[in-house]
Amino acid sequence: MTMAFRIDDDLLAEIKERMNIVDLISDYLPLKKSGSNYLGLCPFHNEKTPSFNVREKEGYYYCFGCHAKGDIFTFLMEKEGLSFPQAVEELARRTGVQLKEKNFLDEEKDKKRARLYSLNREAGYFFMKELAKNKEALDYLGKRGLHQNLIYKYGLGLSPFKDQILCEYLLKKGYTLDEIIEANLAYERTKDKKLVDRFRSRIMFPIIDSRNKILGFGGRQFNHDYGPKYLNSRDTPIFHKGKTLYGLHVVKEKKYRDRIILVEGYMDVISLASVGIYDALASLGTALTKDQSYLLKRYAKEVYVCYDGDEAGQRASKRAIGVLGSVGIKPKIITLKDQMDPDDFIKKEGPDAFELAVKKAKDPIIYLIDDLKQHFSMDSTEGRIGFSKEVAKLLRGIESPVERDVYIDYLGRNFQMNREALREEIQRTGFKNQEDPPRIQSDFRSVDLSQTVNQRILLRLALYDYKIFKDLQEKKIYWAYKNYETAFKAIEAYEEKDFPIAVEDFLNKLEERGLFTGVEEVKLKEMQVDGAMTDDVLAKSLENLRRNQLIKERDQLIEDLQEAEAGGQGDIKELIEQIKAMNDALR
Ligand code: UTP
Ligand code: MN
Repeated sequence: MTMAFRIDDDLLAEIKERMNIVDLISDYLPLKKSGSNYLGLCPFHNEKTPSFNVREKEGYYYCFGCHAKGDIFTFLMEKEGLSFPQAVEELARRTGVQLKEKNFLDEEKDKKRARLYSLNREAGYFFMKELAKNKEALDYLGKRGLHQNLIYKYGLGLSPFKDQILCEYLLKKGYTLDEIIEANLAYERTKDKKLVDRFRSRIMFPIIDSRNKILGFGGRQFNHDYGPKYLNSRDTPIFHKGKTLYGLHVVKEKKYRDRIILVEGYMDVISLASVGIYDALASLGTALTKDQSYLLKRYAKEVYVCYDGDEAGQRASKRAIGVLGSVGIKPKIITLKDQMDPDDFIKKEGPDAFELAVKKAKDPIIYLIDDLKQHFSMDSTEGRIGFSKEVAKLLRGIESPVERDVYIDYLGRNFQMNREALREEIQRTGFKNQEDPPRIQSDFRSVDLSQTVNQRILLRLALYDYKIFKDLQEKKIYWAYKNYETAFKAIEAYEEKDFPIAVEDFLNKLEERGLFTGVEEVKLKEMQVDGAMTDDVLAKSLENLRRNQLIKERDQLIEDLQEAEAGGQGDIKELIEQIKAMNDALR
């Protein structure tokens, strides 16, 4: 990222002077005065008794539990997933501190974004008016339990079944064709090169953020079944699917929520709202991302995952446990009977039954254990051995021995498993082997093999060994984030004799400040490396990054295909070929 403004100590000091750290942190969690400090439940790890200390005068926080520490900038970086410059910019904005050297280009960009926001608002308004005129659509929503107040609250609308009606409306309002296309509200149809509205004959769900801005839209088929059931805006300069959640504008009405219920769909969110449950957010039809997990963390203490009861939903739940875990959320898992989704469930069983299902939500590890059990026949010896091994693998990922024991106990009680044998199995496959470098290995075992971990490993190993660095330079690395790539390039300035390069020195000498978050710096420093294991770990990281990249590209192709099938641009045959090739490469 290129910095649009200069960050120097004066600027940082000025912001710190104006922003009281207690005020900042109190926006995220309740703090109680305790002596000359403030105390609260640590937002960076799960705890029941407060060990998170905030020193107001020094402008500093420290957690005695997980040792998280830092100042207003690191706090915002961690809580909001911002880079250092972004955190500075945000706090400068909040405190009204002027940033220097904000250049012309950035102003242009901001202007453009502002135009897109207002364009979206105009389009949303258009869809609402269309819905109000259409009795059939209102009846349909009425039958689904969606009455007028909810329609307003969520800004629902209707896109007419006409090729260019929205386009014409927006042109009349003074927006250009380029802007309409950029907002992804129209596109050029391949077959006749005609410009057409992207959403036609669909119930429209504006995706609204916490500042009440419309970022994009989702549209559900209505009356004409062309294309996918739900069509969503693609990513635009103001909409990034993986970085937002549906329902934020309602959830943020309250500063803290005791819980957030993560659901799959638009209708799930609104259905819950129809019975007064305003705690739901949906992940917009894509697999849950880390950015979305940070958002969830921002809004609630407790996260419940309530995906569809079908197999796909359960698979998604398992994945969500890993992703949420990687940002320190230990979610509870709600399973609805008869494969219902929350919307169906509310309609059939009502809100009380739903709250009961929430009460019965499972601890994530218990959920994973119970799920594993279904894959083994527990009547056979073979099955029981297989199950034990898998369970041991799962429990190995849990650091706290106390916590681990709770699950071992559960297994003993419910599946008559021998607790001592289990403990041994966990140890045996665990950290016993001296040749295994513990830290890297434990990263590999964690449920979420995140891009960050893979990149951290590569960077760490490149700093460790000149030969590895040289070798990596020749290979194609699919860096997922620019900062790792930049750091990797910076190694070029070193000579063979400088290796292994001390991480701390390296980070201090980096030209770009704040390339990594404080936490990432610590993790880089603490990662233990040992010459014997590197090849294997290295190869795995390279491969994981390549796979992640391919998966991303394939998902985009699948979206392209859906759109082509809906009559949009793109060659269907060609796309299918490409997807096939990708799938082969991924096997
Ligand atoms: P579902 O297919 O479960 O739809 O998709 P639903 O919520 O039950 O909707 P109704 O009840 O039929 O109206 C769940 C979510 O997955 C995304 C959407 O976000 C949807 O809300 N999705 C689904 C898509 O993005 N595209 C699709 O084609 C289908
Ligand atoms: Mn449904």
